[in-house]
Amino acid sequence: MKKNMTGKTCLVTGANSGIGKVTAEALARMGARLVIVCRNRERGQPALEEIKKKSGNREVELMTCDFASQKQIRHLADEFLSGHDRLDVLVNNAGLMRRYRETTEDGFEMTFAVNHLGYFLLTNLLLDVLKDSAPSRIVNVASVAHMTGTMNFDDLQSEREYSSMAAYRQSKLANILFTYELARRLEGTLVTANCLHPGVIATNIARDMPKAVSFALKLFFTGAEKGAETSIYLATSPQVEAVTGKYFADKKEARSNKESYDKEIARRLWEVSAELTGLEA
Ligand SMILES: NC(=O)c1ccc[n+]([C@@H]2O[C@H](COP(=O)([O-])OP(=O)(O)OC[C@H]3O[C@@H](n4cnc5c(N)ncnc54)[C@H](OP(=O)(O)O)[C@@H]3O)[C@@H](O)[C@H]2O)c1
Repeated sequence: MKKNMTGKTCLVTGANSGIGKVTAEALARMGARLVIVCRNRERGQPALEEIKKKSGNREVELMTCDFASQKQIRHLADEFLSGHDRLDVLVNNAGLMRRYRETTEDGFEMTFAVNHLGYFLLTNLLLDVLKDSAPSRIVNVASVAHMTGTMNFDDLQSEREYSSMAAYRQSKLANILFTYELARRLEGTLVTANCLHPGVIATNIARDMPKAVSFALKLFFTGAEKGAETSIYLATSPQVEAVTGKYFADKKEARSNKESYDKEIARRLWEVSAELTGLEA
């Protein structure tokens, strides 16, 4: 692996497990100054030590944040900004599936809050430093699961009816709508925003789902090394330096579902998300 990320600062969320951990380790191997974000110290510390040891890179730092808490996301952004004056690559990767409906301390449905509002709020809080560091990149880990998803603005928080898969699909469609809208808003800044499907990968993502689902995932699908390839490609490859507002699978540009290209829906989602996170639209 070439050390072509030397001098660059990268932040990867959900870096203690699965795709995020492999992505973080690759960036560390390539010489980046790296911040890994994990839910807490118990989960983050072993990942930090492993990434440092395997990559031989000492400039890896752990920050903690539970993305179910907007207060913690704001604290994470403040902590990052107080210690770093640049950010070249932001990888929004932390995500989950929840079998039963749960709400966050802010009162939002967990899947929507972590998978979408988490990406939305952290990115917006770090947008100025990304612009100051341009050319810079935002990489959002979405999923092919969005293909059968739809934005249910009448019941975004699944209050009337909850299905784990419908909530997950909606959150992953939101990742794509957010990426496309963000790229439009970032036009002319040299900050790119792209999203991806990592493949169907044996990770811990289905750990809260019925045993058969998590077992099938572990049994039949490929490992996190393969799953991280497109994230690493979008974060580092010179080939996509000027590419923005696209959806990738297997390191290639791909079509996302029809709804994801609806600019009105993307604008509406942005406005609702800004309201729910207390940001200006
Ligand atoms: N695996 C697949 O087949 C697949 C397919 C398409 C898309 N994806 C996407 O890939 C991304 C990574 O998932 P993965 O498959 O690598 O699963 P994973 O092994 O479960 O990793 C998910 C990461 O997100 C973190 N996370 C979840 N909720 C969090 C919270 N509230 N606060 C802070 N961190 C939180 C997890 O931390 P903890 O360990 O502390 O929970 C973990 O580090 C997700 O966005 C997922 O939607 C995965």
